[in-house]
Amino acid sequence: MPVSFTQHHLGSRIDRRLNVFLESWRAPVSDPGVEAAYGLLTDFILSGGKRIRPQLCYWGWRGAGGDDCEEIISAAASLELCHAGLLIHDDIMDGSELRRGRATVHRNLAGLHQGPGAEAFGQAGGILLGSLSLAWSDALLSSCGVDPVRLRAAHHLFDAMRTEVISGQYLDILAQLRSGASVTEALTMIRFKTAKYTVERPLQIGGALAGASRELLDSYSGFGLPLGEAFQLRDDVLGTFGSSSQTGKSALDDLREGKHTVLFAHAVQQASPAQLDHLRSWHGNPELTEERAAELRQILTETGALARVEEMIEERVREAVAALTAAHIKPEAASALTVLADQLAHRTK
Ligand code: IPE
Ligand code: IPE
Ligand code: MG
Ligand code: MG
Repeated sequence: MPVSFTQHHLGSRIDRRLNVFLESWRAPVSDPGVEAAYGLLTDFILSGGKRIRPQLCYWGWRGAGGDDCEEIISAAASLELCHAGLLIHDDIMDGSELRRGRATVHRNLAGLHQGPGAEAFGQAGGILLGSLSLAWSDALLSSCGVDPVRLRAAHHLFDAMRTEVISGQYLDILAQLRSGASVTEALTMIRFKTAKYTVERPLQIGGALAGASRELLDSYSGFGLPLGEAFQLRDDVLGTFGSSSQTGKSALDDLREGKHTVLFAHAVQQASPAQLDHLRSWHGNPELTEERAAELRQILTETGALARVEEMIEERVREAVAALTAAHIKPEAASALTVLADQLAHRTK
């Protein structure tokens, strides 16, 4: 069966499971405002998103010898609820207006209420809905129906994952406060804020649910960490050079917010005094226009930062594929993960 079909089929099963789960958690109070907020959250979770983490969780399970079944679909879907909660919070923290091609959840909430308190209401409501989605992810994983001993091992990894991503997000806001991060610091940050929760832990959680050996879990880490870093490095490139119509996020966000990406850290390292001056004046400047952004992109290219990040992506994909080749993993899962590795590193959205 072609991999694209399998992926599509898997995505539909995850979506169906999410739909049934969300139907089972209707607003517990009959208030039209609360019901509208639940509706917004459900729409956000169900409309759009590449479903990367559930797919990796599923293949982590299959790679460890688990059979296709509904229990793993539930566990995999729980990771999407966790991801949705993190995105909602991230968009508040980053002041982002656009996600998955639509207004972000806190913007939508602000739009429901007119007047001076609308902004604060949107943010407060977004914190609550993001937390609800995170709480629901726990509920769905806990009730997935897998053998309790294996579930306990997987839940431990799930706990570690949430601790890591929150710590990574904290490093991100610290870098904003400190107005800078070296290449090494930026790499540590992306490892924690993205690589672990996007690739490494989802694979390991799927594996642990199927009773994977320590050795296989380590192989998943050897594959997942470099691939997860490649995924975020690609996100940084797309966040600055990609088109908003493809990524569903604003192509000005990273520059206007002054994100301390690996891409930017490389540019700072290599810039001439004049280029550095320009970077410092406009990176993180809320007045940044499309024209000034184009000049920043030119500096990112001329300093060789863009080319270096592209190289770093390729190095990491090679490292990930080598770890996968050496792993004792079921062949069907190895093929699916090889295809996913290429897609995650070379995606356009
Ligand atoms: C976005 O993740 C957040 C990052 C960690 C870069 P995705 O690119 O997987 O987002 P969706 O779910 O497809 O929207
Ligand atoms: C990142 O979302 C979300 C998490 C890492 C939880 P974005 O796609 O907005 O990426 P950042 O905010 O630039 O890291
Ligand atoms: Mg963000
Ligand atoms: Mg962020």
